[in-house]
Amino acid sequence: MAKEFISQLKRTHHCNQLTIDDVEAEVVLMGWAQRRRDHGGLIFVDLRDREGITQVVFNPETDQGVHSAAHTIRSEFCLAVRGRVRRRPEGQDNPKLATGQIEVMVEQFEILNPSATPPFLLEDWIDVGETVRLRYRYLDLRRPEMAANLRLRHRAAAAAREYLNRQGFYEVETPFLTRSTPEGARDYLVPSRVNQGRFYALPQSPQLFKQLLMVAGLERYYQIVRCFRDEDLRADRQPEFTQVDLEMSFVDENDVMELTEGLVSAIVAATGRQVQPPFERITYRQAIDRFGLDAPDMRFGLELVDVGDLVADAEFKLFKSAVAGGKTVKAICGRQMASLSRKDLDDLTSFVGNYGAKGLAWIKIKEGRAWQSPIAKFFSDGHQERINDRLEAAEGDVIFFGADTPEVVAESLGRLRLELARRFELADGDQLRLVWVTDFPMLEYDPQAKRMAAMHHPFTSPKPEDLQFLESDPLKVRARAYDLVLNGSEIGGGSIRIHQPELQARVFKALSISDQEAAEKFGFLLEALTYGAPPHGGLALGFDRLVAILAGQPSIREVIAFPKTQKATCPLTDAPGRVDPAQLLELGLRLDA
Ligand code: AMO
Ligand code: AMP
Repeated sequence: MAKEFISQLKRTHHCNQLTIDDVEAEVVLMGWAQRRRDHGGLIFVDLRDREGITQVVFNPETDQGVHSAAHTIRSEFCLAVRGRVRRRPEGQDNPKLATGQIEVMVEQFEILNPSATPPFLLEDWIDVGETVRLRYRYLDLRRPEMAANLRLRHRAAAAAREYLNRQGFYEVETPFLTRSTPEGARDYLVPSRVNQGRFYALPQSPQLFKQLLMVAGLERYYQIVRCFRDEDLRADRQPEFTQVDLEMSFVDENDVMELTEGLVSAIVAATGRQVQPPFERITYRQAIDRFGLDAPDMRFGLELVDVGDLVADAEFKLFKSAVAGGKTVKAICGRQMASLSRKDLDDLTSFVGNYGAKGLAWIKIKEGRAWQSPIAKFFSDGHQERINDRLEAAEGDVIFFGADTPEVVAESLGRLRLELARRFELADGDQLRLVWVTDFPMLEYDPQAKRMAAMHHPFTSPKPEDLQFLESDPLKVRARAYDLVLNGSEIGGGSIRIHQPELQARVFKALSISDQEAAEKFGFLLEALTYGAPPHGGLALGFDRLVAILAGQPSIREVIAFPKTQKATCPLTDAPGRVDPAQLLELGLRLDA
């Protein structure tokens, strides 16, 4: 056996392929031993490759030598086997496997490479902590589920490229070693050796370069590109992540949105599912009013309803004085949620506390729509009736109230809505609900910096009809910006840009960005705009988020080959690492600590 074998024989099938149609065929498989079981003289190995698993059998009656050599096979040994396909004996089928009706009787095999004892068994990975999975990511990725995630990601990227190529886009690479790009996060900095004391910033997005490509006359640009943002990490945020980034000239927002609808539909179709353009559209204002958040999950109702006018003259002081003080009182009606215990309701009260709410009044609707609640006595029958009617409350429902500033009510009830949907499983896991959110405010007040900040980025065009308020009432100005939301997750965003330097200068002023600061940071873009820049706009999809949702995964880490931990470290390479003092010296850097 041994050496000649592998050089003589080629693999004939992947481990997901063989069926009863292949019985009696002679096949060659290559892969890894997932598990070895010894049974009454026979040795069974689950042979796994990136596509699937096939059971291979070593029978002493076929070849004594082969059979006894098989005793040395251990988990994760890399193997080549040659053998004959046979129908599994009566009662031995495994309906969970694509190849579950057959097995391969091994006539010859070779250990291509033994394996050290793996730190975890791949089939028991559920119990394995994230750090261990990432430390041995190359083993974690051998799991069929992970291979499937990367396959889906590959198909999605291929579909995106194909679609955009067909639409006349050029794929262009933009620099990673560049200057700060303002997307609202912190920059990753790279010190320059040749220009000591100076730093490159890794791009938070290719925003400025793609606009320059429009000035350059490229008309349609795209890039599947890594972006770098030093921000607090969550399940849907990584310090480096991938965008499908695009920009178009001579377009308005409808053109970009329609193009994106085609793109997203093509990506979804490549993963074996369907969505149908046009996607629904709602304005930012409607999203906040109805769902409390600007990335609404619209797979279920549970909408926020204003009840300020109904409680203004009730005896319940808290609400009465809130309304009198110009605050907001809103409610949501949880259908058939009366099973919530006192403890559940206390938990939910502290839950909304995380979002600034000072309390959470609730009412259980009993027989005859009677109210049961510590606060019921403060509401007359007429008040109860009117509130029931507006919320369409029925027996078994629970009504929750929030009274505070409009922002706190929106955020806390919006989050409560999602939490209730999670607990009562209101969202259909198979549905893909896409919605555009449009008409974002251009500016928002940043209380920390005590100044206005761009909600999207400072190159976003204001709506022409709102321009008149730019100086007098800037918060009233809406932007030509749009976000794409899938099942409550922001999977993309973009805008029509400012292409005239005078308007750009006015917007910088509204953002309290001085001429000097503007010239220093984005002077090159402002200058470029003076050379006949075409009207242009674009968008970027958060590719990891889109793929994670399509793969049914709770975190984007599951669809990234080598992601970082919550603390932005890589347990596999041990990055970020310390550097040699000599390297620091060369860069002209000195560490304080
Ligand atoms: P924006 O900042 O909205 O827009 O980013 C576009 C999309 O990228 C995804 N995203 C992330 N995904 C994973 N980890 C992160 N840390 C992360 N941050 C953002 C989101 C988001 O919708 N230059 C503009 C686009 C444009 O105007 O054309 C931009 O970057 O899904
Ligand atoms: P209290 O009068 O403070 O005992 O509050 C009565 C009920 O109102 C409790 O269920 C509180 O959780 C709730 N509550 C308190 N403040 C608010 C608020 N700002 N919005 C909604 N409910 C509140």
